[in-house]
Amino acid sequence: MVKIRPGIMRDCKDLLMVYMGTHWADGYTTVEQIKTVHRGIIFNKWGWLVAEEKGTVVGEVIFRIEKNPALGRIGIIRDIGVDVRFQKRKIGTKLTRAAEDVLREKGANRVLATTPPEARNYWIKVGYFAKGMSHRIEISPAKVPARKTKAVITSQPKETKKLPTSMSFSHIGYPGLLAEIASEIVDYGKKGRLFEYYVGKSLAGVGAIVLQDDKSALFSADVTKRGLEHLDVALLRTAKGASNLRAKKVCSVIPKEHFALVQNLAPWRSTLERDIPVTRLI
Ligand SMILES: CC(C)(COP(=O)(O)OP(=O)(O)OC[C@H]1O[C@@H](n2cnc3c(N)ncnc32)[C@H](O)[C@@H]1OP(=O)(O)O)[C@@H](O)C(=O)NCCC(=O)NCCS
Repeated sequence: MVKIRPGIMRDCKDLLMVYMGTHWADGYTTVEQIKTVHRGIIFNKWGWLVAEEKGTVVGEVIFRIEKNPALGRIGIIRDIGVDVRFQKRKIGTKLTRAAEDVLREKGANRVLATTPPEARNYWIKVGYFAKGMSHRIEISPAKVPARKTKAVITSQPKETKKLPTSMSFSHIGYPGLLAEIASEIVDYGKKGRLFEYYVGKSLAGVGAIVLQDDKSALFSADVTKRGLEHLDVALLRTAKGASNLRAKKVCSVIPKEHFALVQNLAPWRSTLERDIPVTRLI
């Protein structure tokens, strides 16, 4: 009988086996690597559940909440995985439902996940529907237009041991991406920058950009409801941060429904993302 319970660091030993099967392309080989994945501060204690069968952990789900001015609080399932030897026995369904229960309790009214095409039908079976494909945009840092306006002041929040609350946010940007990038910088010490954009004393926008191993920079930027008219400033100033990071190119992911707002801000190259966003009202 499978039991769903909160995860603890000791579970990482069993999870190595899960990761070697479900994340084989990422090359996990040590328990320490699995612990590192679970150590970040983005990682809320309530957002990690594991499935245990006969004393062994055979699956997990990782999730959290972020604020979205258009949609309210949205739950994000960052990852779910079941040991390949235990798949198709409803363990994934149990983990998904348990995560949804916690997210509902925390005030979320919908859940969003990003799935590889291979697992898309799993999500459909558990009641999610696929949103349109997202767009990946990419540009050389030198080609990012400058946005010099005194109306919007850029500030860089101090990289403390805590993820700035302003970064657990999405509105126009791809849900979860800003927080993931900020976590790479704050939790894992990767080279990057966090930005807050102010109009007067009000927060109008946020941004984060991180240098990746292949020397490209990944960024996400967003605006509050009030800051909507300054979307171009938040987006382009954040993307321009790639020049300081000496990145060869700079890219981001934009949800289909907001691509039109971003499309003409710069001469991006755009392609469809491989992974698919799926969502369910809870
Ligand atoms: C996706 C995953 C978590 C599903 O776990 P699981 O325990 O096998 O899922 P369940 O047994 O609860 O499956 C529920 C239904 O979905 C179907 N299903 C499960 N995985 C599927 C897949 N990859 N493709 C199509 N259908 C799938 C099951 O057959 C079952 O159908 P049924 O209700 O008709 O019997 C698991 O396959 C996995 O770890 N995949 C690799 C990691 C991954 O891609 N994660 C998603 C990232 S967001």
